[in-house]
Amino acid sequence: LGSRPLRVACIGAGYVGGPTMAVIASKTSPDAVQIQVLDISEERIAAWNSDRLPLYEPGLTELVFGSRGRNLHFSTAIEDGIKWADLIFVAVNTPTKECGIGAGSAADLTYVELAARQIAAAADTPKIVVEKSTVPIRTAEALGAILEACGRTSFEILSNPEFLAEGTAVRDLCEPDRVLIGGNLETDSGRRAVETLTELYAHWVPRERILATNVWSSELSKLVANAFLAQRVSSINSISALCELSGAEIDEVARAVGLDARIGPHFLKCSVGFGGSCFQKDILNLVYLCESFGLNTVADYWRSVIAINDWQKQRFTARILHGLYNTATNKKIAILGFAFKKDTGDTRESAAIDVCGNLLQECAKLSIYDPKVPAEQIWTDLTRRCRRTRDELAHYVTLAESAEEAAMNSHAIVILTEWDEFRTLDYAKVYKGMCRPAFLFDGRSICDMKALSQIGFVCYAIGSPVDSRIRLR
Ligand code: UDX
Ligand code: UDX
Ligand code: ADP
Repeated sequence: LGSRPLRVACIGAGYVGGPTMAVIASKTSPDAVQIQVLDISEERIAAWNSDRLPLYEPGLTELVFGSRGRNLHFSTAIEDGIKWADLIFVAVNTPTKECGIGAGSAADLTYVELAARQIAAAADTPKIVVEKSTVPIRTAEALGAILEACGRTSFEILSNPEFLAEGTAVRDLCEPDRVLIGGNLETDSGRRAVETLTELYAHWVPRERILATNVWSSELSKLVANAFLAQRVSSINSISALCELSGAEIDEVARAVGLDARIGPHFLKCSVGFGGSCFQKDILNLVYLCESFGLNTVADYWRSVIAINDWQKQRFTARILHGLYNTATNKKIAILGFAFKKDTGDTRESAAIDVCGNLLQECAKLSIYDPKVPAEQIWTDLTRRCRRTRDELAHYVTLAESAEEAAMNSHAIVILTEWDEFRTLDYAKVYKGMCRPAFLFDGRSICDMKALSQIGFVCYAIGSPVDSRIRLR
């Protein structure tokens, strides 16, 4: 490279590519690193170049504004970007297959393959290609095979899985627990490629946190990390059901258990069910992998993590229904929160989609409020989930501008996302505007049940002993 900056391209300007490149840009100087973020979507790129970024992530806007035009550039000129780059991140989407072999569990690699073919067609100098999308193991091998068969130059393939969580992406990227780089450590060029990527991260990550492994270990570690995290949530959620019936408090149990240093306190918050683009998808990938190696008992073990999650969502809907005297027909229900967790506008696999879908099947009238999810997204999610047109749903669904508006004249409040503003809502005031009896179903266990009961609410919080008025009748 001589003295010129390292040229980094990233194919895919989504939740992974955008924030990751913004952090790299903010941690490096323009004479050390130049970055092009590439996407096929004109609309997305236009948004990245505008005052309103295409996704909400605390701290991201400031970072992008600080680096954009300096060492961070967003563009749809994919071919030029590939030609220009020394190192190319592939951060395209890898959804679960919707049809064909492995439908519902295998990853759809269409976008990864397309990106590989674009790189092969455009590249005329040696490239380091870094697999960043979450993909089942052996994808790097497929990437390499396509590049080798179709390309005109040499490629080094690295796996560098992303561990950022939405809502805390900037912090996670700035202070990662570890950075994992999988490469071919048996060859000189493989080791050199690993070193190039290591140096890029070493601008801000301590070297002892940057781990070099073989490609397969790196790819598998990403799936396993997400599977373990999801398993912890399902484990605590399974116990939440036991607490509700036996008189223990889930938050007390979680605290007591988490203080064991071998277990640790994180990821033990009970909920209406985990969501997000990764957990379910990665577990399904793991299940698919195990089954393809004939490890059916292992596959069943991991599948049960999803089964508990599905059951938790069903169970929560059933509680609401039983509370409302077994009929929700035409009752207004306030839905507080639609994102899969707080501090993000993302709804992929959000528990809210299933809970709202179930309530709509009961002919409830939903008034939905979420501080960050765009209205269009809620309509898209519900029309897809219910297989109804927007016009058909409009009779049952309205979108509110505030929690208070959603709750006005409703029979029940249902909390589905743990947004901070739902903790501090003036519930006494909200209560006055509701039908009697006024119910509150807390799917995130964030409210003070005692205080709410004193106001007059009939309360149910996931994982707390159930009020006799809500118990199954
Ligand atoms: C356990 C609990 O650790 C302790 O807190 C409780 O009070 C009693 O039960 P113990 O059964 O003495 O203690 O041993 P422990 O170290 O937990 O190991 C239990 C089993 O798990 C052993 O067979 C051990 O070999 C196995 N194990 C443990 C593993 O296979 N892998 C591990 O990573 C840890
Ligand atoms: C996850 C991983 O954390 C991250 O490392 C990986 O790169 C991508 O997948 P993300 O999906 O963004 O990140 O969010 P995360 O914070 O892990 O939460 C996932 C889901 O689990 C959310 O619906 C959240 O509400 C739920 N959750 C999490 C719980 O219900 N309880 C918990 O204790 C933690
Ligand atoms: P993730 O959460 O994995 O980042 P997203 O869906 O948020 O997934 O982002 C993936 C991005 O990749 C999308 O903006 C999509 O337009 C883009 N993309 C997919 N395939 C290609 C491709 N071949 N070339 C450029 N961009 C692509």
